[in-house]
Amino acid sequence: MKAVHVDRYEKAWIGISVAFLAGLVLVIAYTVVGMNIHLPGSHGAEGPDGAAHHDTVPDAAPEAPGVYEVGPNHYRVVMTAQVFAFDPNEIRLPRGARVDFVLTSKDVIHGFFIPGTTVNTMVIPGQVTRTSYVFKRPGSYTFFCHEYCGIGHQVMAGHIQVD
Ligand code: CUA
Repeated sequence: MKAVHVDRYEKAWIGISVAFLAGLVLVIAYTVVGMNIHLPGSHGAEGPDGAAHHDTVPDAAPEAPGVYEVGPNHYRVVMTAQVFAFDPNEIRLPRGARVDFVLTSKDVIHGFFIPGTTVNTMVIPGQVTRTSYVFKRPGSYTFFCHEYCGIGHQVMAGHIQVD
């Protein structure tokens, strides 16, 4: 069988493509193993008994959506996401408030993103997503869904006022 001739430019581009893919796989491996970044799923997942398997929030009966004061200037926001709204979607907090967000979805995968903060996560049905943030700067914060969830995705948003 005659060896197939491959042009040297084509060979070079094959090499670049393979190197690029290998680079992407290494980046994924590094974020998972080196930086310990995972989907919110396995960490905040609820077992079949409804118990939360997480080490920072004590197990408790599920709370209704709302804003709960849990300590001095420390709040827990329990929030549900569904097409195409968050509950609650209007929140008022004092400046410097530390907020633990506890989110879940009632239907499909949504996102929860507050621009200008480090809050940026997925909200997955059947799982509980937890994230925290300290609102040091007063002002108006808009949060919105950044996972495409259907025809009204672009109107799925809410507002946090920090006084
Ligand atoms: Cu909910 Cu996009």
